[in-house]
Amino acid sequence: MSQNLTKPNSSFISKRSPLCTSLFLVILVVIGLYTVHHPHRNPKNALLFQQLFLSSATNYTVSSYLRSLTSHPHVAGTKPSLETIHYVKTHFQNLGFETHTVPFRTLLSYPLHASVSMHFSNGTVFNLPLNEMGITNYDVSSSLIQPYHAFSPSGTTLGKVVFANRGTEDDYDALGRMEVNVSGCIVMVKKGGGLGRGAVVEIAEKMGALGVLMYAEGDISRGSFGFGVERGTVMRGVGDPLTPGWAGVEDGERLELEDNKVSERFPGIPSLPLPFKSAQLILESLGGPLAPQEWRDSGRSNLSRVGPGLFMVNFTYQGEKKLATIYNVFAVIRGLEEPDRYVLMGNHRDAWTYGAVDPNSGTAALLDIARRYALMMRKGWNPRRTIIFCSWDAEEFGMIGSTEWVEQNLVNLGAKAVAYLNVDCAVQGPGFFAGATPQLDNLIFEVTKKVKDPDLEFATIYDKWTTMNGKSNIERLTGVDSDFAPFLQHAGVPSVDIYYGRDFPVYHTAFDSFSWMINHADPFFWRHVAVAGVWGLLGIRLADDPILPLDYLSYAKQLQGYKDTLSGVLDASISLAPLAASIQELTSAAKQANNETKNLMAREFTNDLLALKIRALNDRLMLAERGFLDTDGIKGKEWFKHLIYGPRIGHRSEFDFFPGISDAIAESSRRDRDATIQHEVWRVARAIQRAAAALRGEVF
Ligand SMILES: *[C@@H]1O[C@H](CO)[C@@H](O)[C@H](O)[C@H]1NC(C)=O
Ligand SMILES: *[C@@H]1O[C@H](CO)[C@@H](O)[C@H](O)[C@H]1NC(C)=O
Ligand SMILES: *[C@@H]1O[C@H](CO)[C@@H](O)[C@H](O)[C@H]1NC(C)=O
Ligand SMILES: *[C@@H]1O[C@H](CO)[C@@H](O)[C@H](O)[C@H]1NC(C)=O
Ligand SMILES: *[C@@H]1O[C@H](CO)[C@@H](O)[C@H](O)[C@H]1NC(C)=O
Ligand SMILES: *[C@@H]1O[C@H](CO)[C@@H](O)[C@H](O)[C@H]1NC(C)=O
Repeated sequence: MSQNLTKPNSSFISKRSPLCTSLFLVILVVIGLYTVHHPHRNPKNALLFQQLFLSSATNYTVSSYLRSLTSHPHVAGTKPSLETIHYVKTHFQNLGFETHTVPFRTLLSYPLHASVSMHFSNGTVFNLPLNEMGITNYDVSSSLIQPYHAFSPSGTTLGKVVFANRGTEDDYDALGRMEVNVSGCIVMVKKGGGLGRGAVVEIAEKMGALGVLMYAEGDISRGSFGFGVERGTVMRGVGDPLTPGWAGVEDGERLELEDNKVSERFPGIPSLPLPFKSAQLILESLGGPLAPQEWRDSGRSNLSRVGPGLFMVNFTYQGEKKLATIYNVFAVIRGLEEPDRYVLMGNHRDAWTYGAVDPNSGTAALLDIARRYALMMRKGWNPRRTIIFCSWDAEEFGMIGSTEWVEQNLVNLGAKAVAYLNVDCAVQGPGFFAGATPQLDNLIFEVTKKVKDPDLEFATIYDKWTTMNGKSNIERLTGVDSDFAPFLQHAGVPSVDIYYGRDFPVYHTAFDSFSWMINHADPFFWRHVAVAGVWGLLGIRLADDPILPLDYLSYAKQLQGYKDTLSGVLDASISLAPLAASIQELTSAAKQANNETKNLMAREFTNDLLALKIRALNDRLMLAERGFLDTDGIKGKEWFKHLIYGPRIGHRSEFDFFPGISDAIAESSRRDRDATIQHEVWRVARAIQRAAAALRGEVF
């Protein structure tokens, strides 16, 4: 991964030497003058504070935060995780911020024992290694937790093994054509291929499998890092399973573990991640039909078979589910003019192991933004709106910390949250990536034009991003894989998620450590600095801009694109006219709002009446996203209320937008398929109309 080791060259460094320092001082002096002579907000002043934010970046602060956060593994609910809570809290307090620690009591899951053995008919028994390469014991002293699947049921299974490739429904169809039935067998699957861990187990269970063994394809070029074992949760949905829909506060209501609503969140069969080498031992001994070429791992012989095997496997897993206390930590900067409008900047803190990438590269960036905001405040800055830094716990178990808090504060957030800015695995390698709800696209473009690229001299992140892909491509937040899920998909808060690099090989393994970070992903921490730059500027703009930088014309265009995609696959029996009409309504509401923004911005900010007009426009911009929520939610996943972005229930559901429509299209066997699709089209159209009405801001 030598391309990761690009050294910033000398002139890049010189930007931070004497010249830089004097520029910094000039900025401070000028801001000082403005603060004295212009007690009211002045756009020039705002720009100077943005400059101060950018020029106060340092790589050594971020690096030292990351080193401290990753000194021990810190799984949620365990003792070592308390150290990170203390570290983050103390950091905020030392900066002089109002700080809050909010505990929840929730159900978590830990491993006790696991074993996998192969039993041959001649009596030979092989016990397969389950540890990661070079790691022999997972004990209290290292506090490293053994590879496992959180919320897997305990159990012993004895059966033949079938290899099911990625474990998709198509893969089982292919097995069926080979006349291989996995019923009563243990299924072996390779991670990747688009399905989440929980979905892989769910499908295997539906096919009658007794248990699931999962491995990630080993890659020799990655060295020993390729031999980590991927931990992760297999729980369905998000949040504490004992308190579905409400917050898991101490002494609050909770369901019994046996309750249907609780047990339906867990798989019915055990599963376990396996080291690549152990998986290979099983795969190499399988009998049965030859595996299709594309199922085989690189480097494996052409004689790979899918099973069932000539041997039995005893797969045993023992775990415990138990109540544990988790802690979200917050720091608050009260807005001066609009303290009741919130810009939330969040990252989770809990990790499966050391968490250098996942998630503490993000935590280090968050702490550095806090440091820089505090510096700006000492120079007279005070944001217009309230900024809330959020350090979530128990994200790895299923977004539990953020979900419980969102459930607890749903009404306040619904009325007051302007945006949620998430960063999870901030730095995984090279290349900038962004996901967002579309009304934030333009702001992301503007901000990335202001932040220096960490790997390319004399270029901004935007420059590199656009040259790399031909265009800057913003992803949509349709997955349920980080803490933006409750904010966007349950509460309808416009959201962002940004990161550097993707698909890092040490994901959820014991090798996600500080040393991997400095050897592979970000040797000098300039990618961390870049993420903090974009994230922090987004926060400043959303907190300070007199009129919220939310552009719904981008949203309308994106929705139009989705509609066009649908009209390409649906036949004439389905009418997309309601969708077209609602998108038209949103387009004109967006044009009107943008026009008003332009007109209001051209005026001097002097009188109270104007201030109220601006506030009213901002409310419309903030609330329009909530229109996409629907009380009934997504069919089959009713907690998810957002009809544009959210999880799909059908594993064959192919569109990453309009989950309800996508699911209905995937249900090809239903007799009332057309009616179901049409109904889902109407629901989405009504949601878009609600958003348009909120943006227009008038009932007549
Ligand atoms: C039993 O069979 C296994 C798998 O074919 C083989 O590896 C092992 O050497 C055999 N053991 C004996 C004692 O023959
Ligand atoms: C697989 O075997 C089970 C149990 O014998 C049977 O119920 C099921 O119908 C079979 N599935 C297929 C696809 O043949
Ligand atoms: C395996 O199959 C591939 C493609 O059919 C072929 O190129 C390769 O030579 C085969 N390898 C062996 C060891 O037979
Ligand atoms: C399977 O392994 C477990 C744990 O090692 C053991 O307790 C159990 O007896 C084994 N079952 C069989 C049938 O060998
Ligand atoms: C900060 O960046 C400089 C220049 O790239 C580098 O020499 C230094 O080692 C970096 N510091 C840390 C802590 O990575
Ligand atoms: C934009 O605003 C101007 C000034 O208020 C108004 O004259 C014009 O009609 C507006 N245009 C649209 C498309 O709303």
